[in-house]
Amino acid sequence: METSQYTIKKTRTKNSKIDQVDWDNIPFGKLFSDHMLIMDYKDGKWQEPEIVPFENLSLHPATSAIHYGQSIFEGMKAYRTVDGEPVVFRPEKNAQRFRKSAHRMCMADIPEDLFIYCLEELLKFDDEWVPKKDTNSMYIRPFMFATDGYTGIKPSDTYRFMIFTCPVGSYYTEAINLKIEENYTRAAYGGVGAAKAAGNYAASLYPAKLAQDEGFHQLIWTDAQTHEYVEEAGTMNILFVIDGKLVTPKESDTILAGITKRSVIEVAQDWGMTVEERKISVKEIIESIEDGSLTEAFGAGTAATIAPVKMIGYKGKKYELPGEEKRTFSKKVVEELDGMKYGKIEDRFGWVKKIK
Ligand code: PLP
Ligand code: COI
Repeated sequence: METSQYTIKKTRTKNSKIDQVDWDNIPFGKLFSDHMLIMDYKDGKWQEPEIVPFENLSLHPATSAIHYGQSIFEGMKAYRTVDGEPVVFRPEKNAQRFRKSAHRMCMADIPEDLFIYCLEELLKFDDEWVPKKDTNSMYIRPFMFATDGYTGIKPSDTYRFMIFTCPVGSYYTEAINLKIEENYTRAAYGGVGAAKAAGNYAASLYPAKLAQDEGFHQLIWTDAQTHEYVEEAGTMNILFVIDGKLVTPKESDTILAGITKRSVIEVAQDWGMTVEERKISVKEIIESIEDGSLTEAFGAGTAATIAPVKMIGYKGKKYELPGEEKRTFSKKVVEELDGMKYGKIEDRFGWVKKIK
C-alpha cells in the first residue's frame, strides 16, 4: 500500500480544550484530545482519511455494528520522552493485531502502513496533548465498525475506521485483587477471544460485575471446557513468578496476544530469566501460593500497564500474595519498559517509534 497516494484533509478546532486540562489530575478515559481521525471504507477501498474536531457521530439507526457487533478496536499509548519528544511503543504490533481482528470478524482489511500513517498524522496534529509528566501518557484508541444501514445479517460492505486519543493517568492506582472465574467464560476454542472484538468486553461485564460486588477488581478467566486452566485477566494478560521463573499461559485462540506481555517476556529472556509459556492450572497457582514458591503475580496490558496482584480469590477463599518487598521482577521490568518509553534508557530492542 502506497500511503503517499493519500492526502489527509485536516480541520483544526476553533474551540481547543487544552487550556482547561488539569494535567495533575487526569482520569482514565474521560478526557479527549481536540481531534479525531475518520476514514471510511466503501466501494471496496479505503477513502481519504480526514482529521476533524472531536465531536459526536451521526449514524443510521440500522448501522450493522450496533446490531450485530462487527466492531473491533486497539489500545496503544504515546509517551513524551525526557527530551520532550512524543513517541509510540511498538505500533506495528497493534497494526498487525488489528488486521487479525478484522480478518476474524470478517471486516475490511486495513494495511499496516495505512494504519500507522493515520496514527502518525493524528498524533502529529494533536502532539501537544501528549502529557509531559512521566506518570502520564496518551492512550490511543484506533477502532473500526461496520456501517451498512441494513437489518439483514451479512458482513457489512462499508466500514468506518477512526482514531481518537485521551491523555491518561493510571488505570489502577493500587495493587489489585483478582478472582478466579469458575462458571462464566470469556472465550471458547474456535471463538473470537484472540480478536480485540467489542463483544468480548460486553460478554465479560456481568461476571466481572459479580466479582466487583465481592470486592475484586477483575477476574482471572479460565478455560471454557474445564475452568481448570488460567487464561487472562479482564483487560490484561496474566504472568506469575514461580520458583524464580516467569510463567504465563500459552497464547491460543482464547487469549488476546498482548503486546505488553510479549515485551515483558522478551525483556526477561534478555536478562537470562527462564520463561515458560504453557498451560497453567488453577491448582498449580493455589499450591504455589501456599508453599511460597509463587512470589509475584501481575497483569500486563497497555491501559493497565504492569498491575501487581495482591490477592487471588478462589472457591470463596482469599489467598494473599507476598507483599511489595517480593515484587522485584515486576518492579524491575516496569523500570525497564518505562525507561525505554520515556527515553531514560537506551531503546535496545528498537521498540520506540518517534512521531515524525
Ligand atoms: N487481554 C485483553 C482482553 C485486553 O483487553 C488487553 C488490552 O489490550 C490485553 C490482554 C493486553 O494487551 P496489550 O498488552 O496489547 O495491551
Ligand atoms: C488496553 O489496554 O488497551 C485495553 O484494551 C483495555 C481497555 C479495554 C481499557
